[in-house]
Amino acid sequence: MVEMAPATPGRAGTPRSGSTRGEEIRTARARRYLMCRPEHFTVAYEINPWMDSSRAVDTDLALAQWEHLRRTYLDLGHVVDLVDPLPGLPDMVFAANGALVIDGHALGVRFRHAERAAEAGAYAAWLRAQGIEVTDAVALNEGEGDFLLAGDWLLAGSGFRSDPASHAEAQELFGVPVVSLVLVDPRFYHLDTALAVLDDRTVAWWPPAFSPGSRRVVERLFPDAIEATEEDALAFGLNAVSDGRHVVVAAAARHLVAELSSRGYVPVPVDLSELLRGGGGAKCCTLELRDAVAAA
Ligand code: ARG
Repeated sequence: MVEMAPATPGRAGTPRSGSTRGEEIRTARARRYLMCRPEHFTVAYEINPWMDSSRAVDTDLALAQWEHLRRTYLDLGHVVDLVDPLPGLPDMVFAANGALVIDGHALGVRFRHAERAAEAGAYAAWLRAQGIEVTDAVALNEGEGDFLLAGDWLLAGSGFRSDPASHAEAQELFGVPVVSLVLVDPRFYHLDTALAVLDDRTVAWWPPAFSPGSRRVVERLFPDAIEATEEDALAFGLNAVSDGRHVVVAAAARHLVAELSSRGYVPVPVDLSELLRGGGGAKCCTLELRDAVAAA
């Protein structure tokens, strides 16, 4: 377990009831995240429907929005590590795609698109330098873009990026039961664009992004799931990061923000509009390092 944050009101590790229903007390747990400053962020190629390489990116705005996100995590009491951004890898800011780390062990990634291939080695090298063991991936997998740990289950997406064969690989490596979910809407090409894990028992999601069978699986496993609207999903509201209590979420996902409050979570709205030009939001910028060695 990661150490709890100091007991400052509203920070991770200081449970408080925020539920309007009065029965739910959401508890925060301090996390360790890895992020990558968007110094070289731009839209130089198009590998998802959000990317338009004909429109210039405001890198300074992306940097300011990203810095606000980093500050938000620190203010919530989390630890944020940084991996150096590399020139020529404009999507490296999307750290979620760098690995999947559980119990201090990492499964490396293999990207579907050649444009991002070199990020895999950069992330693996950083993790190894921290003393985190990295198992190289065999099948294509884009890290926490398509793998989301939800309590006892590892939710695993396929359909656009990660190969379903990577799901079995992750299950074998971590010994955590994997639940394969099929994505069907190209706008929501990674699992973390269509579903957010709020705590061990609760997710928020937009059901139409999933195949009919996958929808039934999510409904079966998470009867309390929060349903986002299409508008929420298009604002990348589901690309959210929860510590169990505080949910860092796109401000523009208004319905979802209200729903989170009514369910006892504390929404922490952020604006990452410039990073959305690359098809990413808060979660895409954030890789959770679970029970890894202490930060340097
Ligand atoms: N431009 C990047 C890509 O298409 C965005 C990645 C977003 N990351 C995520 N975890 N959903 O690969």
